[in-house]
Amino acid sequence: MFRLDGKIALITGAGQNIGAGVAQLMAAQGAIVLVNDYYAERAQETVDGIVAAGGKARAVPFDVTDREAVNAAVAEIAANEGPVDILVNNAGNAGIGGNMGQKPFAETSPEVWPGIFAVNLYGLFHCCQAVLPSMIERQQGRIITNTSGAGQAGLNIGVSAYGAAKSGQIGFMRHLAVENARYNITCNTIAIGLVIAKPSPVTEPMAKSIPLKRLGKPEDIGALAVYLASDEAGWITGQTIGANGGAWIN
Ligand SMILES: NC(=O)c1ccc[n+]([C@@H]2O[C@H](COP(=O)([O-])OP(=O)(O)OC[C@H]3O[C@@H](n4cnc5c(N)ncnc54)[C@H](O)[C@@H]3O)[C@@H](O)[C@H]2O)c1
Repeated sequence: MFRLDGKIALITGAGQNIGAGVAQLMAAQGAIVLVNDYYAERAQETVDGIVAAGGKARAVPFDVTDREAVNAAVAEIAANEGPVDILVNNAGNAGIGGNMGQKPFAETSPEVWPGIFAVNLYGLFHCCQAVLPSMIERQQGRIITNTSGAGQAGLNIGVSAYGAAKSGQIGFMRHLAVENARYNITCNTIAIGLVIAKPSPVTEPMAKSIPLKRLGKPEDIGALAVYLASDEAGWITGQTIGANGGAWIN
């Protein structure tokens, strides 16, 4: 079950951390993975790990906020590997050179918003629009977006801009799901809690507030993404699924 043999999977921001975990698990299930990152060397590092493990992957560095670059990359993938079957919108946080702000909203500078909105919302816009025509034509496709618990719940840690962008992703994905269900395309959202690829003595105390008493690993998100991308998840669409160790249960 949950095999992705021969599926063409484009994963954005997959040069490290969660995106790399998603890429590794999809490749292990047989997908041909196109590893995107703004930084080519990061993308290549993920590719090297996948290939060393016996999987199929290629680096496709581009900036998800650059519409022309996104369209060119998706066309180039179609010519080389084939049209994208699975899109994972993962590039996020505050983007390249971005600034999360981390201040109460009353003290937040207007300069913080555009970078966060560019990567989380315009990146999503460009990538979804680039892959949809072929998915519609072929009457198949999987779109998965990695959002955050910060898009579902208020947090007192000064990330209101990020929360607004991540909520925007959730709302957008619901509409995308309903509009495209008629074409057999599913669109789901993973609302992620605190995930750290390399736990340290500094990060471990954060696990205390999580009901399952550990931070998330990239593979925790990768496993859910594999499921949502699989044929077996063909009746699941428009959902926002928490992967957060039990945080934000309401
Ligand atoms: N790590 C967490 O605890 C956590 C929690 C909730 C949600 N999320 C979300 O999950 C996703 C992945 O998070 P992460 O912590 O693994 O991210 P990260 O910052 O560790 O890695 C993201 C990668 O995306 C790349 N990237 C950034 N902007 C890009 C752009 N414009 N074009 C192409 N690549 C770009 C970066 O170079 C980086 O390698 C993000 O959408 C984030 O908002 C993460």
